[in-house]
Amino acid sequence: MPAELVCFEPGCRARYRVTEVIYNCTRCGGLLEADYAEWEPDAGHMKALWRSRRISNAPLDQSGVWRYREMIPFVEDFRSVVTLREGNTPLLPAPKAAEYGGLDRLAFKHQGFNPTGSFKDNGMTCGVAQARRLGMRRVACVSTGNTSASMAAYAGAAGLDPLVFIPHGNISYGKLAQALEYGARTFQVEANFDQILALVRELAERLGIYLLNSINPFRIEGQKTIMVEMLDQREWHAPDWIVLPGGNLGNTSAFGKALRELKRWEFIDHMPRLAVIQAEGAAPFYELFHSRERRRLATVEHPETLATAIKIGDPVSWPKALYEVTESCGTVEKVGEQEIADAKAIIGQCGIGCEPASAATLAGIRKLTAAGTMARDADVVAVLTGNVLKDPDYIYRYHTGQLEAPHGSRIRPTFGNQPVVVPNDAEKIAALLA
Ligand code: F0G
Repeated sequence: MPAELVCFEPGCRARYRVTEVIYNCTRCGGLLEADYAEWEPDAGHMKALWRSRRISNAPLDQSGVWRYREMIPFVEDFRSVVTLREGNTPLLPAPKAAEYGGLDRLAFKHQGFNPTGSFKDNGMTCGVAQARRLGMRRVACVSTGNTSASMAAYAGAAGLDPLVFIPHGNISYGKLAQALEYGARTFQVEANFDQILALVRELAERLGIYLLNSINPFRIEGQKTIMVEMLDQREWHAPDWIVLPGGNLGNTSAFGKALRELKRWEFIDHMPRLAVIQAEGAAPFYELFHSRERRRLATVEHPETLATAIKIGDPVSWPKALYEVTESCGTVEKVGEQEIADAKAIIGQCGIGCEPASAATLAGIRKLTAAGTMARDADVVAVLTGNVLKDPDYIYRYHTGQLEAPHGSRIRPTFGNQPVVVPNDAEKIAALLA
């Protein structure tokens, strides 16, 4: 299966060998994507084959990414693949969250069930496979925390040397702890995500380090399988809407590409609409989408949100994301800190839980149904991108009324659940419970 890299810019479409170490088009600077020009998988055959792999004990078949390897046919030799059995994440119905969001029904595709607790693992297994195939020794990323946790784990498992760059003081301890534990050399840079990305790109070029940010097209290929697995779980009935948080916009790009390919190859009969939700203080894509011309993204100089995973002012994948959201007849919404915090508590009460950025989905759904953009009886899947334990500090502060929004205003613990200190005395505790 001949795979190539192709420039995403419609006016350019320059093509490159899949084994070239490049992240942007050398002709126009555009983003690159993997392209499988002559590939036409037979939908009926693939669906049966993928289902049969679920009972296999072969490592590749047990991976919720490589089980669908015909969707991502850029590797020829699977010996370069390292799997931690990523993917395999559940699709969880959540009636209480549906009601809060103004919907009859809602299901969460929970990527927090991944080996390192976020959707990044789906992409990272592919990025690391490509790094090994290219013979790269050192890999690097800038991250708001989840990419670095994931890269550290997969690089560790693959015997590569991971270098992690994070904005100092701006990622949750759960994520920082993972990078350290998995053995990544970790640099806390005194700058924001967008500034550090420029720095790391320069270092990667100068020192021959392989860059594993979502600008890497192979990571995007892996994240496509989140959609494939979700549709497999739904017997290939495409929902009306797919809702996801937007930061650097790699996931939006991946989901759109996956859905377009699945539609083209007749796995599904219609395209779901993508709804991307951003945090109000870091919403450049929202502004772009709702601008008259939708031409150029205006960077947010100082992005602010407690949902640190999506605290990004200059998302690299915006051209792809804009194309995908437009193509799917989708939309972009933004939500405030209070809305994210309350939606997160509701997801918690469903027994599901997620990290703050993921909860932007439910807060966004609530806004979109209230505005009439999303119908009450719509069939909706929201993607929870990270595990509840990624940011316990946020949770404790919310429930105890100590959570502060970026500009100092308190977040109300609308659904707060205070722990109660009691004496070691059955009588008094019984009295309290009465
Ligand atoms: N949700 C979580 C939990 C994330 O960690 C991220 C991104 C997003 C949503 C946004 O996804 O960038 O594809 O639009 N985290 C990156 C990181 C930036 O470095 O871990 P996106």
